[in-house]
Amino acid sequence: MCGWVHRRRDHGGLAFLDLRDRDGLVQVVVNPQTSPGAHEVVGQVRAEFVLRVEGEVTRRPAGTENPRLSTGEVEVLVQGMEVLNPSLTPPFSIAEDLEVDEALRLKYRYLDLRRERLRNNLVLRHRVVKFIRDFLDARGFIEVETPILLKSTPEGARDYLVPSRIYPGRFYALPQSPQQLKQLLMVAGMDKYYQIARCFRDEDLRADRQLEFTQLDLEMSFVDEEDILSLFEELFTTMVETVTPHLRVIKPFPRLTFAQAMERFGTDKPDLRYRVEMASLGDVVAESEFGVFRTALAQGGVVRGLAAPGCAAISRKEVEGFSELARSLGAKGMVTLPLGEGAAASVAAKYLTPGQVEAIAGKLGAGDGDMLMMVAGERGMVDRVLGGIRLEVARRLDLADPSLMAFAYVVDFPLLERSADGARWQPMHHPFTAPMEEDMPLLDTAPERVRARHYDLVCNGAELSSGSIRIHQREVQEWVLRLLGYSDEEMEERFGQLLEAFDYGAPPHGGFAPGIDRLVMLLAGESTIREVIAFPKTQSATDPLFQAPATVPQELLDELHLKVVEGGAGG
Ligand code: AMO
Repeated sequence: MCGWVHRRRDHGGLAFLDLRDRDGLVQVVVNPQTSPGAHEVVGQVRAEFVLRVEGEVTRRPAGTENPRLSTGEVEVLVQGMEVLNPSLTPPFSIAEDLEVDEALRLKYRYLDLRRERLRNNLVLRHRVVKFIRDFLDARGFIEVETPILLKSTPEGARDYLVPSRIYPGRFYALPQSPQQLKQLLMVAGMDKYYQIARCFRDEDLRADRQLEFTQLDLEMSFVDEEDILSLFEELFTTMVETVTPHLRVIKPFPRLTFAQAMERFGTDKPDLRYRVEMASLGDVVAESEFGVFRTALAQGGVVRGLAAPGCAAISRKEVEGFSELARSLGAKGMVTLPLGEGAAASVAAKYLTPGQVEAIAGKLGAGDGDMLMMVAGERGMVDRVLGGIRLEVARRLDLADPSLMAFAYVVDFPLLERSADGARWQPMHHPFTAPMEEDMPLLDTAPERVRARHYDLVCNGAELSSGSIRIHQREVQEWVLRLLGYSDEEMEERFGQLLEAFDYGAPPHGGFAPGIDRLVMLLAGESTIREVIAFPKTQSATDPLFQAPATVPQELLDELHLKVVEGGAGG
């Protein structure tokens, strides 16, 4: 056997080693009496040395079995041992599952990956991707690779640019997704395509975002929403049953409209592992003595709330913690009202009649022992605040069942939204999404009311996948692009290839693109995608192992006809 020394201990004149490889551990015993040569070698051996051992696999003496190890019933009595390579003492322990600073873990990622948790995550990732490939192959899909060096493909982030040496002053852009390419493959008659595709987006990083990440990118011709949604429901259900059978899914996947998701959970990616829901209270509190509520409603805002189960008696400090969170998310404050014992302690109780409190509790499904939490103001802010409060309530009360993968489809999204400065329309997803047929006439008169043939898959509070039935006719695509403010020249320059392809018999088509990193993160029960990527970037977009990004020699810049502006280099 070959492997790494995981742990060593000496006991009653014998040396015991746990030898480790990708599959796990096995106990190795060196007896100075029977193998003096090996015993000499084992004297110099320390953690993470690479060894080759020869010996005999035997049953462990009765009473010394280790039920936590898959090899716990056996051990290897060593006859020969060779050190293939020594090791320095690693900067953190491989054997102990201790909290280690992430920058250090990433600098020594090859050691970090020796640890059981990460090793298991990579194996899981492999199984997931293999499952996807087998599942789609069995259903007639073919995998096609598309270029990395291309032109800007908008998904709402900034592009990564690659300077062309051959054409000075010109750049390739790395694809933010293979969106236009997969649509072109449909025009090419590829019917059922998929790809495990790397995507590149220069955007601010978060726990579930990296600048390069992997999608299962998929597209089909001659389909409608139902075909895609049922295919993916089957894919994810059978994947969980096969690859992670300790987890559960709820079948069939619930479906929510965008409007329902916002109304009930304040977000379009609700965590459905627990039942806490929000509701509008405007009609109950409109007549109340509560100035904060009445003012908000008079100004066109809303009053909404939720009930934190069993939280009526939480401490003043905890209540203040929730209010602090509400303020940090943009609320002026949050009104709390405990039900049952202690109700009198709330300021809100002074302004609301018992009948009004009862009506609010009814709307929020609350009873004695629960704490009502209410926020007033502009709708978007209120949803964001209560959505955040909902997550925090669930976190503190540990409401989420860790064995549940709570998938749900969200449908009926608006096609367009106002840009941040309010000046123009922008696509809620990307400009290739088809509008709903019956809403098409509204494109010119009331664009905000046009619904998209778009669908998302959410799971445990994360957006796992996005997709849509696409536009496949030039006139419709131009109509939408014009609405988005593209001039004829810009349209031609950016989307000319797709528009022209639509002139040559483009089939109706649609697709979907689940994020593989997020999927594996959820299946592994991790809280960041960095834990399921072999060599991820830090939250601040660097690679501590390779020290990327890095400066480059002047000759390289010269060759590319590039000049770094003063103050920009090395920074
Ligand atoms: P979208 O931009 O929603 O859609 O991306 C699809 C899925 O990819 C994952 N994802 C990410 N994962 C990690 N880091 C990121 N920076 C990141 N950005 C996105 C998410 C997300 O749900 N072309 C369309 C899909 C389509 O219409 O078919 C697209 O890319 O899991």
